Amino acid sequence: MDSVNMAILLLLLALICLFLTLNSRGKSHLPPGPTPLPILGNLLQLRSQDLVTSLTKLSKEYGSVYTVHLGPRRVVVLSGFQTVKEALVDQAESFSGRGDYPVFFNFTKGNGIAFSNGERWKVLRKFSIQILRNFGMGKRSIEERILEESRFLLESLRKTEGQPFDPVFVISRSVSNIICSVLFGSRFDYSDERLLTIIRFINDNFQIMSSPWGEMYNIFPSLLDWLPGPHRRLFRNFRGMKALIARSVREHQASIDPSSPRDFIDCFLTKMAQEKQDPLSHFQMDTLLMTTHNLLFGGTETVGTTLRHAFLVLMKYPKIQARVQEEIDRVVGRSRQPSLEDRPAMPYTDAVIHEVQRFADIIPMNLPHRVIRDTAFRGFLIPKGTDVITLLNTVHSDPSQFLTPREFNPNHFLDANQSFKKSPAFMPFSAGRRLCLGESLARMELFLFLASILQNFTLHSLVAPEDIDLSPLSTGLGNVPRPFQLCLRQR
Ligand code: HEM
Repeated sequence: MDSVNMAILLLLLALICLFLTLNSRGKSHLPPGPTPLPILGNLLQLRSQDLVTSLTKLSKEYGSVYTVHLGPRRVVVLSGFQTVKEALVDQAESFSGRGDYPVFFNFTKGNGIAFSNGERWKVLRKFSIQILRNFGMGKRSIEERILEESRFLLESLRKTEGQPFDPVFVISRSVSNIICSVLFGSRFDYSDERLLTIIRFINDNFQIMSSPWGEMYNIFPSLLDWLPGPHRRLFRNFRGMKALIARSVREHQASIDPSSPRDFIDCFLTKMAQEKQDPLSHFQMDTLLMTTHNLLFGGTETVGTTLRHAFLVLMKYPKIQARVQEEIDRVVGRSRQPSLEDRPAMPYTDAVIHEVQRFADIIPMNLPHRVIRDTAFRGFLIPKGTDVITLLNTVHSDPSQFLTPREFNPNHFLDANQSFKKSPAFMPFSAGRRLCLGESLARMELFLFLASILQNFTLHSLVAPEDIDLSPLSTGLGNVPRPFQLCLRQR
């Protein structure tokens, strides 16, 4: 074929794609959006910055509900508090599906809680919530576990003896140990190679997923599978985690007593044995591995990243840090550990933690959702199976909900009497049917770890407060804080 014929063929193909796109848009009455190119979709409109910034910019042009093509995939993007709430809360069931997310999906293949759909997701979610609740309400409640872990954390922080250190691993070890103890039955020693390996894998993957490589992989997975780059470590790391979990499951199988389950894995294995005869059971070995993996991943990097953002904010605003410490001293004192019972009497600390979560916005685009039926929404008709991105960053910076959205301002969560004030636009854990199932655990961890640290130490930056940069180093799945070191002064 000569080059003229080739050019004509390509032009025809492009026209057919355009026709099909516009035609399907007409039938379903999709929201407006930039015209896509064949295969590339709206890549030209998206490539200037990170995906979050580009999608946020497009919402200024096309409104709070618009259609965009991430490569060949059509996605509806929602922004602003009112619109996101109408979808995730008011039409919760319709928007409850999980959208495509190749950086995870190509490993989980739709198994596990976070990336499954339909009946399997419902069954696994109900089961996991029940088990987490049981272990939280049982003899060794989750609060006791966090308080115990805080003591180990404080001990390792004391060992820094006022010298500068990077908080990433120190904090992640303690945070990960909480979910590890629920999943595997006991915490790991801080020097245990298994714990350190888990943290390394998760930290590395969170960074890659929050970089342009992770974003490009989500748009063109088949192409990137053939190209070299850091994205290739994603699945190697995931396989490493899976092998580690599988080893623990084998150890559990060898010592399980179904009448007295020690942890999540025991409960799952018992359920698998009960449903052994049912060929349609959702309780299979691979599902156990993926579900454990989801909980481990979800329960480690998120809380650790939030605490690192909190450290940066408290060092940048020493007066805010001092006011939290004053409240801790007044309500808890220095002779006992802070407990959850103290929280209602500590509105300022609570407000600061909420503001850190709003401001840091650690999962800015949420995980992708999908409409599970044809859905009428704000005058449009979104066809069943369409993926939906809810820009949580635009909810958290919505000027109709927060007085000074660009500033770190604990008053966003305090009323005129300085009592704690809830905000319906506080959505770091998302909202609706897919609401983060670790929310209550994460909120306990954030409060207890932070209050314990500030009760014992004052955080000092190595640079002047005004030089601390709170903007993220990279953005994608998560907002990753810039690397930093800090010193702790014993109080
Ligand atoms: C500060 C800490 C955390 C933040 C900000 C956070 C945020 C989120 C977000 C935004 C989602 C997606 C919700 C959606 O699709 O609408 C999610 C889902 C999820 N999170 Fe968390 N999370 C945190 C801690 C945890 C913890 C501690 C666990 C483990 C117990 C956990 C386990 C999960 C799981 C399993 C899902 C999937 C839920 C589903 O698809 O049904 N997360 N989280």
